[in-house]
Amino acid sequence: MVMSYAEIAKQPEALRRTPNLGEWADERAGWSWDSVVAELDLPDGLVNQAHECIDRHAAASPDKVAMIWEGSDGSVERYSFDEMRRHSNRFANALAALGIGKAERVFFFTDRIPELYFACFGTLKRGAIIAPLFSAFGPEPVKERIERAEGSVVVTTPNLLPKINAIRSDLPSLRHVIVIAHRAGAEVAPEDLDYQELVRDASEEYEIERTGSEDWSVMHFTSGTTGLPKGAAHVHNAVISHYATGKYVLDLHADDVYWCTADPGWVTGTSYGMFAPWSNGVTNLIYEGGFGASRWYETIARHNVTVWYTAPTAIRLLMKAGSDAARRHDLSSLRYVMSVGEPLNPEGVVWGEDAFQLPIHDNWWQTETGAIMIANYIGMPIRPGSMGRPFPGIEAAIIDDQFQPVDEPMKEGQLALKPGWPSMFRTYWNDQERYDSRFKGGWYLTGDRAKRDADGYFWFVGRDDDVINTAGHLVGPFEVESALIEHDSVAEAGVIGKPDPVAMEIVKAFVSLAAGVEPSERLRRELTRHCRERLGPGVAPREIEFIDTLPKTRSGKIMRRLLKARELGLPEGDTSTLEDD
Ligand code: PRX
Repeated sequence: MVMSYAEIAKQPEALRRTPNLGEWADERAGWSWDSVVAELDLPDGLVNQAHECIDRHAAASPDKVAMIWEGSDGSVERYSFDEMRRHSNRFANALAALGIGKAERVFFFTDRIPELYFACFGTLKRGAIIAPLFSAFGPEPVKERIERAEGSVVVTTPNLLPKINAIRSDLPSLRHVIVIAHRAGAEVAPEDLDYQELVRDASEEYEIERTGSEDWSVMHFTSGTTGLPKGAAHVHNAVISHYATGKYVLDLHADDVYWCTADPGWVTGTSYGMFAPWSNGVTNLIYEGGFGASRWYETIARHNVTVWYTAPTAIRLLMKAGSDAARRHDLSSLRYVMSVGEPLNPEGVVWGEDAFQLPIHDNWWQTETGAIMIANYIGMPIRPGSMGRPFPGIEAAIIDDQFQPVDEPMKEGQLALKPGWPSMFRTYWNDQERYDSRFKGGWYLTGDRAKRDADGYFWFVGRDDDVINTAGHLVGPFEVESALIEHDSVAEAGVIGKPDPVAMEIVKAFVSLAAGVEPSERLRRELTRHCRERLGPGVAPREIEFIDTLPKTRSGKIMRRLLKARELGLPEGDTSTLEDD
């Protein structure tokens, strides 16, 4: 079904401004990354994401509000581009004084507070790498990630510090723990560093390190089917993609107030919570709190948010709260709503029309791609249920098992991208082999299955691996299985994504028990507690089912696909390699 823009969006507001992107096919034909580069400030081949996002705008419009921060308690703080520049300079100086140098890994394990953003940009100015972690992680995922990247510093808040203290002795690389304590009115222990004290004595001026396009900038961890999470490492050049997609997909204009609901612990929260809006010099709203339908609507109304980027799980929760909940607030400032991270059901697209008089625009990308690759653009007719069309500078294809492009419309295959866009990840930290395995036949393999229709719109089918997508966050089954089998009562564990009407999938574990251990409700609760303590609530299984034995291949690998097929009551497919069936 093709709906014209006029049909789906009856709202004049959406067209109030001329979209930055012209006719998709024309833009594609005439695309040049060089002309994007010409709009940025990249002298002598130097590029630093903090300069593009902060200092460039601090020079041109120092007093423009860069960040509106709203705390969970409703308090509001505003920071201009020049204040952001000075705060981040102080942190860069503090890192220099601590002897932290280029490409060292600085981890962030904090709530969404202004200092997180100052410190991230300060780290980038110093030429070190920012590695943000999701604050709902338990100590185990935090330890694995810092260990794998050999992190030198972690910046944290008093409420999360106990999780760091629990793993600190296992992390020989970790030289400094910096605690942002003043907001909580907490004391800082002698073995830790007080953020406030560090920056108080530091200069407001800092000469940004002379980073080049291929210097490391950001590392985000992402889960695979096997093994522990991998650190996808990005370079400063990525800001070219952030700027371009901010301009042409988010359609950012100078007077927009933009809000991205993602946490910087995930890539959407950095690429689109920091780099895209600020490289475009736009006022960016940061809301500290979590989801709440009325609270979110109040936030939009209070700050006159114009462009809003959120996720399907949140949209499904808003749908549950009902369109009336939206209508009770003055949301007339909104002109454009987008979503990413999971498939957006067609009902979600159309519901936006009912609640906001705006259809919701879906787009697609990954941690590895660093920026949006496929999108429904503001001026292009939406096909509800489709992820949209490739960004003008991006070549996307459906490929077959021989890595050959499939031209036939609506034929399923793997979604692949032609490498070379600016924000493409450059390695999995300390795992070059795995990185290389993602490139075949001249394509970057996304690991997603999809179809393309005759007009070039892409339709998501599913993942090509066992990674679970729960509320837009990827969880590797291996991490959860490892935590389960650490428990004395557990012999084996197999973990799958079980479909869920709100979160798309929830983490479900099948567990076989050690000899002599009997299944019980009490044990189930005990295993849940064990996993939540180690992994955190976002990763721990929501359901645990006891089974006698797990289906395995003859080589002893647990067949998660079979567990999933059985769970869904689907045909079991090829079971010829099954151990003893
Ligand atoms: O499976 C796809 C799904 O999320 C994966 C990327 O997750 P992550 O690396 O955490 O990156 C988050 C930044 C978006 C993809 O491989 N995904 C993402 N967007 C969509 C999606 N699935 C369907 N539709 C989407 N729009």
